[in-house]
Amino acid sequence: MRILIINGPNLNMLGKREPGIYGSDTLEKINQEIASHAEANNISVEFVQSNTEGVIVDYIQGSHGESGFDGIILNAGAFTHYSYAIRDAISSVDTPVVEVHLSNIHAREEFRHKSVLAGVCIGQISGFGKYSYTLALEYFRINNRR
Ligand code: DQA
Repeated sequence: MRILIINGPNLNMLGKREPGIYGSDTLEKINQEIASHAEANNISVEFVQSNTEGVIVDYIQGSHGESGFDGIILNAGAFTHYSYAIRDAISSVDTPVVEVHLSNIHAREEFRHKSVLAGVCIGQISGFGKYSYTLALEYFRINNRR
């Protein structure tokens, strides 16, 4: 099984960025932990990050097809709340997408309560810090066994 993990804008700043909300681990450190969990479960993972909406659209479109991925774990950052382009990209491919957030977006400012992506994703995992990603990976692992 191959899973693509996409991180959106400002997630490259983890470690420095609002540690009270997002924790003190860097994205690299979080990715290493996800990679070792994946390896232990025989899952192949690839990591990409972009601050640019169109690049994220390209990653989603590219996940599709023969050399494609079995699933995507997507933290679209602030694009979650307003990017119809990313929503349409998810709808355009048959790759299942799980939306994740480090913070609990429903417990924060009102503009974060709304995800325009959630309705076209398998589901949303929000508020478990770096474990949001591992929980999403667990979904793909368990679902793959059926
Ligand atoms: C986030 C939540 C978003 O509201 C915010 O814009 C982010 C990070 C999270 O992981 O908690 O950049 O997606």
